[in-house]
Amino acid sequence: MLQEGYTKYRGSVFRVPLLDRWVVVVSGAAMNEELRKFPDDQMSFIDAAEELVQAKYTIAKEIHENPIHIPVIRGPFTRNLGALMPDVADEVASAVQEAIPDTGEEWVGVVALPAMTRVVCRASNRVFIGLPMCRNPEYLEIVLNYTKDVAKGRFIMTLTPILFKSIVGHLLPWSKNALKKFSVLVRPVVDETFRQFDHHGKEWEDKPKNLLTWLTEEAKTTGHRPEIVVSALLSSNFVAIHTSSISVTHALYHIAACPEFIPPLREEIETAIKKHGWGKQAIGEMWKLDSFMRESQRVNGTSGVSVIRKAVVDLRLADGTVIPAGTLLGAAADATHCDDENYDDAGVFNPFRFSDMRQEESERIKHQFVSTSPEYVPFGHGKHACPGRFFAGNELKTIIAHLVLNYDMKFEDDGPRPPNKWFAAAVIPDRSAKVYFRKRQTSSV
Ligand code: HEM
Ligand SMILES: *[C@@H]1O[C@H](CO)[C@@H](O)[C@H](O)[C@H]1NC(C)=O
Ligand SMILES: *[C@@H]1O[C@H](CO)[C@@H](O)[C@H](O)[C@H]1NC(C)=O
Repeated sequence: MLQEGYTKYRGSVFRVPLLDRWVVVVSGAAMNEELRKFPDDQMSFIDAAEELVQAKYTIAKEIHENPIHIPVIRGPFTRNLGALMPDVADEVASAVQEAIPDTGEEWVGVVALPAMTRVVCRASNRVFIGLPMCRNPEYLEIVLNYTKDVAKGRFIMTLTPILFKSIVGHLLPWSKNALKKFSVLVRPVVDETFRQFDHHGKEWEDKPKNLLTWLTEEAKTTGHRPEIVVSALLSSNFVAIHTSSISVTHALYHIAACPEFIPPLREEIETAIKKHGWGKQAIGEMWKLDSFMRESQRVNGTSGVSVIRKAVVDLRLADGTVIPAGTLLGAAADATHCDDENYDDAGVFNPFRFSDMRQEESERIKHQFVSTSPEYVPFGHGKHACPGRFFAGNELKTIIAHLVLNYDMKFEDDGPRPPNKWFAAAVIPDRSAKVYFRKRQTSSV
């Protein structure tokens, strides 16, 4: 429907039905730009996200009202990526070793999506809360269950008529149960961190560098109680893990379907790691890998609709369309990404198209994995574009780099990429497909 509407109405709008409402979809790069430029008091991202995710029921009410994790992810967490990335690489190595059984020189099939989800979960939590908690089996199970359950809760809420949402919402058990169990493990760490801040004051020199520490600092500065840190950490897990594991699995499928991409990537990765060791600097020099990830997300993103907004007042778009207050809007992400107007041979998976474009000095920045534009909206675009994308970019590249360096990969019988599953606007890679891994036969770093 999204592609059909886009083709028919490019430069204007069309609407598609969700189960319980309409979404107005703007079509074409110029309209994506127009959509993201409306100020918050005319088009609200928060209201749109609330309506689609029903966060106050599926996550937690107080974190919806005080999302302290957003400034923290955007601020200290992203500023400190240089210090965090070596730990992420260390955790990725250990988590991959656990996910892929060691069979010597034999090929071994691994169901990719759950394996990648676990790797992402451990790698993220290494810098969200740190060792040893990021390897605690119960902690991981709570987080992984929760990520699944929020999606389930969301689905139930979309099936619930607006009149009954608040009744059904309050009955949804998962978020409350998850928060309770999560709190048993995390609350003591948060309390200890509060105590340390009280003891050392703002100048706590050797405070652990992780999300929990910075969330605690934010909570103290803004006068919030320790509970909010616990729900902010759980919320951060939801936004980080669901999207990242889908995106990295899409990329892995592109590699398994076309193992001929491995040698050029391997050469680049090896050179950078030899020079700098694992970390942000080495990752920053892997232009081909960066391009590969951007191209993978261009053709296989996590959502067919992005730059979601809700009209707060009656509005008129440049093409004359009148948008009544209360309307949900979004950009047709996949259709935009597959438009020949925006990309040469948009239908072709060309892994190094962006690194080729970056050779030109003036084109260095805008074709990076994390750069958004009216033509590239997998992370949204504008003021509310994903604040976690700088971390996500580094983390996902670390995972793929580690795999490429240490394993040969393919599908069974050298088969093709399995088709995606669409779930409303979500684009999910096949959940049960196996990727075959074999320890790399030649030496590695
Ligand atoms: C490949 C991985 C990811 C993708 C594709 C992704 C995508 C998105 C998108 C599309 C939005 C909405 C932006 C808009 O509509 O304009 C968003 C928001 C957000 N993302 Fe991500 N994201 C990813 C990873 C992460 C990670 C790892 C974190 C945390 C560390 C994160 C934290 C957030 C937060 C907190 C918001 C809400 C921002 C706000 O309310 O202003 N994301 N993300
Ligand atoms: C996770 O979900 C499974 C299946 O629903 C359940 O059996 C298990 O008890 C849950 N684990 C935790 C720690 O909540
Ligand atoms: C995902 O990638 C495959 C292979 O490049 C392509 O055929 C498919 O159309 C892509 N996009 C979606 C949304 O399925």
